[in-house]
Amino acid sequence: DKGGHRHFMAKEIFEQPVVLSDCLGHYAESETARLSEQLDFTCTDRMIFVACGTAYYACAVAKYWFEQIAGIPCDVDIASEFRYRQPPVSDRSVALFVSQSGETADTLAALRYVKDRVARVVSVVNVAGSSIARESDLALPILAGVEVGVASTKAFMNQLGALANLAILAGRQRGHIDEARAAELHETLRGMPGLINQALALESKIAAQTAELSEAASVLFLGRGAMFPLALEGALKLKEISYIHAEGYASGELKHGPIALIDKSVPVIVFAPKDALFEKTISNMQEVMARDGKVWLVTDAEGAAQAGEGTWSTLVMPKVDPILAPMLYAVAAQLIAYHTALHKGTDVDQPRNLAKSVTVE
Ligand code: F6R
Repeated sequence: DKGGHRHFMAKEIFEQPVVLSDCLGHYAESETARLSEQLDFTCTDRMIFVACGTAYYACAVAKYWFEQIAGIPCDVDIASEFRYRQPPVSDRSVALFVSQSGETADTLAALRYVKDRVARVVSVVNVAGSSIARESDLALPILAGVEVGVASTKAFMNQLGALANLAILAGRQRGHIDEARAAELHETLRGMPGLINQALALESKIAAQTAELSEAASVLFLGRGAMFPLALEGALKLKEISYIHAEGYASGELKHGPIALIDKSVPVIVFAPKDALFEKTISNMQEVMARDGKVWLVTDAEGAAQAGEGTWSTLVMPKVDPILAPMLYAVAAQLIAYHTALHKGTDVDQPRNLAKSVTVE
């Protein structure tokens, strides 16, 4: 049942305010207190995040959160690399595996490798009772409901929701943030479903811009800080369902290579909420514009007022605490990919060559 939408992917994008509320409700006060008894980060020397694809990008966002909110050094690895590299790990580390299906072969193999080598094996899964959930010491559900679209949307959102909660828990346990900051972050999370609804209301604006985007042969996504992994996720979504070549880059890497690609035929989508790094990202954006690159700036009202002139397009998102902005800007990334794919006429829910669950390596 597509709930009145043309595709499962659209249904799942629009379900996000509700499923994220479910997830955040689950991790509210009492569950977090229970979790705090089962999982103690005070002596954790390192977090090791391992996953594939979109789940890997959720981990890459979580790295920024665990470093900034909890002060824990973090490694993020692609499961297929981690499992064969067999890196040395410490028995004071927490290994965290993120998987929608809970059956991804490489992620499961990576989990088995660390199993008796680290302090704790934690998984963040959508499918309860899956192999990854069963084989971890502690399985945290994301409660996104069944995800049918091959391109992950609501599972990504809820992975971020669960990981943000966990980062705040770790930050409190370690005294890296005070109670006031923890309360503020929880408040921002609680407001997120409402902000996501506001972002979903921008659908027609986004759709209008994708007709031209769908004619591009190649698209770049840029972001800094926690928006860098979101740029990677935006590029993955676009290539998966529209078959347009896309790459995500850290804004600061632009002049180290990819700027050579820029001409008037290459759209560059810039995720830049008005945060501490905004000016730096904008100066990268201006370098693109100086070379006739078509910039689609995704920012908030303050950012648009400061830098929204002269772009190919500027999308004004609601304002949100920058550290949690990847959750909100994910909606823009998803809608950009979805509407571009509609123009291309591709099979959005079942993109060619892809499977929902990758149980072989
Ligand atoms: C992208 C996508 C894939 C999965 C990846 C991991 O939209 O869905 O990249 O994220 O195959 O799958 P899980 O999360 O089931 O381990």
